[in-house]
Amino acid sequence: MGVFSESLPLNSSLFLAPTPIRALTKPPPTHKITLVIATGNPGKFNEMATLLAGVDALLVPLDRAGPIPRMPPEGGESFQENAWRKAEAVAHASGRFTLADDSGLEVDALGGLPGVLSARFGGPQATDAERNARLLELLRGIPPERRTARFRCVVAIADPRGTVQVAEGVCEGRIALEPRGSRGFGYDPIFEIPSLGKTFGELDPEVKNRLSHRALAMAKARAILEGILAKRGSPDLQ
Ligand code: IMP
Repeated sequence: MGVFSESLPLNSSLFLAPTPIRALTKPPPTHKITLVIATGNPGKFNEMATLLAGVDALLVPLDRAGPIPRMPPEGGESFQENAWRKAEAVAHASGRFTLADDSGLEVDALGGLPGVLSARFGGPQATDAERNARLLELLRGIPPERRTARFRCVVAIADPRGTVQVAEGVCEGRIALEPRGSRGFGYDPIFEIPSLGKTFGELDPEVKNRLSHRALAMAKARAILEGILAKRGSPDLQ
């Protein structure tokens, strides 16, 4: 710990400046592992970082993970396949532990659609409002008890040697008769939690973040990471 302060000349002007000196005398932060969060979306990175607060890992966004030559397209048949492939590819290319997720909405009356197509439902150029309108149109005339649906999220954690562990979170609900609420994103205004009588679009974000599919999957992902960390002795300083 003293190495940095002892190597400074006593008459250094830095010595009089409290902020740089504090920075120089502080030992570099140490973490047991570096964990790449495989998303290019800063909002999602921040949400994941909040959900992993206190885990002894240095979290790195995808654009700081070095060159990733080949990202697999999100064209798999399941959320698990998409999350798994993404985590594996980034861990292999970066040489780091990597966390990736995939999520979406499954509507029972539509045989599970939009499912893995959630982000592209109604065409890649469609807006969230257009996607919601399309879904409501497809469900026209279907009564509330047959409008059951769920958000599903799968999180995959890959180590650089290729081992992958997955965690899944599911939030059950139903599709409302019309959009309600302006909070959140995507399908939030039409996804209703029957016991609360509110859509995700009407809920306080704190409430949504306690019961959402992503929060549930991330709680399990945290347990997986704690298990990985418990097996590792010395910190990863790279
Ligand atoms: P991804 O996991 O970020 O690829 O999300 C896929 C798509 O699922 C998003 O573009 C949204 O349309 C939908 N989706 C996933 N999670 C949510 C959510 O919490 N609220 C609303 N829509 C969501």
